This record gives sequence, structure tokens and C-alpha cells, in this order.
Amino acid sequence: MSHRMALETRALTRSFRPRRSPERTALDGIDLALPTGGIHGLLGPNGAGKTTLCRIVSTVLLPSSGTALVLGRDVVDQAQQVRRSLAVVFGGERGLYTRISARDNLLFWGAMVGLGRRASALRADAALEAVGLADRARDRVEAFSRGMQQRLRLARGLIGDAEVLLLDEPTVGMDPVSAHGFRDLVRQLRDEGRTVLLTTHDMAEAQAVCDTLTFLDHGRIIAAGTPRSITEAVRTVRVTVADAAPEHRPLLQARGFETRDDGTATRSAVRGEVADHVRALTDAGMVQVSVVAPTVEDAYLSLIGERRTGP
Ligand SMILES: Nc1ncnc2c1ncn2[C@@H]1O[C@H](COP(=O)(O)OP(=O)(O)OP(=O)(O)O)[C@@H](O)[C@H]1O
Ligand SMILES: [Mg+2]
Repeated sequence: MSHRMALETRALTRSFRPRRSPERTALDGIDLALPTGGIHGLLGPNGAGKTTLCRIVSTVLLPSSGTALVLGRDVVDQAQQVRRSLAVVFGGERGLYTRISARDNLLFWGAMVGLGRRASALRADAALEAVGLADRARDRVEAFSRGMQQRLRLARGLIGDAEVLLLDEPTVGMDPVSAHGFRDLVRQLRDEGRTVLLTTHDMAEAQAVCDTLTFLDHGRIIAAGTPRSITEAVRTVRVTVADAAPEHRPLLQARGFETRDDGTATRSAVRGEVADHVRALTDAGMVQVSVVAPTVEDAYLSLIGERRTGP
């Protein structure tokens, strides 16, 4: 059965009441509609509710109220079908058998998700190839580095041929080259028609791979859109100068630039003021003046930062 929405939530709420502590609302009325065949980023500070949302979607945690549908199926009433359509990779989780080889872990997992021996072996080898671990397939997992273990977890997620991948901080602990390879793999999975829900604190990663972004804070959605629409909504851009001579300093400082001894200067400016700054600097003889569009990190800082630095 095909469905247009990979994940839909309506007024999804989850509270916790730890012993001898007041009740805490981890998710507070989340409405999401994430289409199939995209990479959807979930961003927000520690404690925002991202993992809680992933746990509800993966059916290991019940909502307090509201609904969540994966490919049109309810995570509570149709939990078993939902589980079959999902692969979950939580960063930093254990979940691997360290005394046996990488390949044996995958064969075991293949059996767990109901594959026969032949199919398990084929899928295990394909998954090991996909995550770049084919040459270490027979090594015991205890000899793997953290990033290699993380890649093996992703391979495990690929065994069952899931339509929806839930990745909660999957590149934590990976070196830059591995993380880069991992992103290529995620894009490839999307291009095969799968849907990826990706939680990350790495803003460059979010910008590089996500088709949509949802920002969470204190259990609520505070912004959502494409990386482009989110960054275009940032009101400020950065103006930088690379060839500021000592005699330019007074002008730069009067215009609110931070100047450095290496001849660079920078300030953030609201979009409407940029042309005036650029004209003034170039009129004064500076040539290497550039305007840098906001990044997802800038958007994050302005969205979350504004909420943190209130009166
Ligand atoms: N089992 C639990 N018992 C009590 N409180 C919990 C439990 N799980 C989560 N919480 C609380 O719910 C809130 C959201 O936590 P969650 O783990 O979803 O955040 P997160 O966005 O994943 O953060 P991080 O970026 O640090 O991973 C936090 O205030 C957390 O303390
Ligand atoms: Mg988390």
C-alpha cells in the first residue's frame, strides 16, 4: 500500500512524571506532515523532544494524547505493521553483539526481521557494502571503532528493506570522511524512494542533506520548511571585508564592523541595510567585500537564540 505521507502527527503530546519531580511535557501538540521520499531533518536543543518523538514513531513509547501515523498506519493501533515498515538507528546505543562478527550480527538481525538464510546473507553483504564495511565483515564488532559500530547499526537498519528510516544522531562519533560517505548513502536511500527522518545537531549536515527541516524547542514546533525557506526567513546576512587597511578602520568601526588585525572585518546586517554598507565600503576603496547568505546554523541560532536571550 502506498501512502503520500510517511509521517503524520496530530496534536501529539507526551508527558513524563519522574518520581518525586513535577510532570514534564516532552512533546506539546506536535502537528507534522512529512511526505514520502524525502530526507526530513529534526533539529533542536538538548531536551527539545526529538528522541521522544522518534521513540513514539518507532512504537517503543506511547503518546499521552494525539495521534501519529506512519505511512497511514497508527503507531498505537497498528504498531506491528508500523514496525515492519521502519528501521531505527539510534546514535550511541548499544544494540550490537560485540563478541561476534559484523556479518553475523546482520545475519542474526535478518532472522529477527523474518528473512530466510539466503535472503539474510544477500542483504547482509549488500548492507555491509553500502556502509563501507565489506572488508571488515568477518571481524568481531568489539574490534570496531565507534564510527564503524555506528555504520554497522545503519547496515542493520538496511537489512529489512524498510520504507522509512528513523535516524537519531546517526553520525555522532563518525570522522568527517565517514560522515560524508554516510550522507551520500542517506541520499541514495532517499533516491530509491525511501523516507528518512534524521535528527542531528550538525547544522552543516542538515543543510547538506535535508529536504525539509523541523525545529523543535520545549516540545513544540517553532519553525518548519525547506532549508531554503528557513534560511531566507533569517533577517540578517553577514557582510565581510577581506582587504581592510588600517586607514579603513574608523569607517568600519563607525559602521559597526568588528575589525581584526589580519585585515578582515565583519558584521551581520539586516537585509535592507546591506547595499548601503557595501556602497560605503567600496567607495572608501575596499574591494573584497562580500555578502554571505545565512546558513541553517544562522537560522538555528536566530530561532533558538532569540528564545534563550529573552529579558
Ligand atoms: N523516560 C523519561 N523519563 C522522564 N523524562 C524524560 C524521559 N525521556 C525523556 N524525558 C524528558 O523529555 C524531554 C525531551 O527529551 P528528549 O530525549 O526527547 O530530548 P532530545 O530533543 O532528544 O534531546 P537531545 O538533543 O539531548 O538528544 C527532556 O526534558 C527529558 O528530560
Ligand atoms: Mg535525543
